[in-house]
Amino acid sequence: MTAALRARPATLPDAAAITHIYNQGIEDRIGTFETTPRTVDQIEAWFAHAPAFVAVEDGDGQVLGYAVAHPYSDRCCYQGIGEFSVYIRREARGRGVGRMAMAALIEHAKAAGLWKLMSRVFPENRASLALMAWSGFEEIGVHRKHGKLDGVWRDCVIVERVFPENLD
Ligand SMILES: CC(C)(COP(=O)(O)OP(=O)(O)OC[C@H]1O[C@@H](n2cnc3c(N)ncnc32)[C@H](O)[C@@H]1OP(=O)(O)O)[C@@H](O)C(=O)NCCC(=O)NCCS
Repeated sequence: MTAALRARPATLPDAAAITHIYNQGIEDRIGTFETTPRTVDQIEAWFAHAPAFVAVEDGDGQVLGYAVAHPYSDRCCYQGIGEFSVYIRREARGRGVGRMAMAALIEHAKAAGLWKLMSRVFPENRASLALMAWSGFEEIGVHRKHGKLDGVWRDCVIVERVFPENLD
């Protein structure tokens, strides 16, 4: 892991950087079914309900990536489940930024009393699956033909991590 990185909670002024990074991920067609670029307003709306962490360069503070946990469901029984995503600036991938953002999100989830984080990953997304394994997530199954991306049916690997300390 690069020493000159740190993670911190995202704040509203980070919304533009997060939007840029998410839109790179949308363009790359490897991490999401979404194909429409997001606006900064849409990302700002996350701050009402979704804890997010950014990994930044220690020197100039540039936001290199983020991890965010949205509520999995509005049903009461699922209130302790966060559905997360993690996106890293194209130029900064493969140098431990994803690990740093995920570690911060996981610490927050534990402290906030969530009992589970989960997500879905395309099986072709080797970098994401490696990051999930490193972050302690288990692959619990595959949704077959879960949606179409650019007209092609795609599978999704379901990953989750349970926090036993929050199961009481
Ligand atoms: C997937 C992603 C978040 C990983 O973040 P990252 O900062 O590049 O990854 P890190 O440098 O922290 O490395 C984490 C692990 O991924 C592995 N990895 C990184 N890039 C890889 C690549 N291109 N191919 C295979 N493995 C890769 C690393 O070796 C490491 O695995 P290890 O712990 O077994 O050594 C990032 O590449 C990204 O933003 N991709 C586009 C958006 C996306 O797919 N988001 C996930 C949606 S589910």
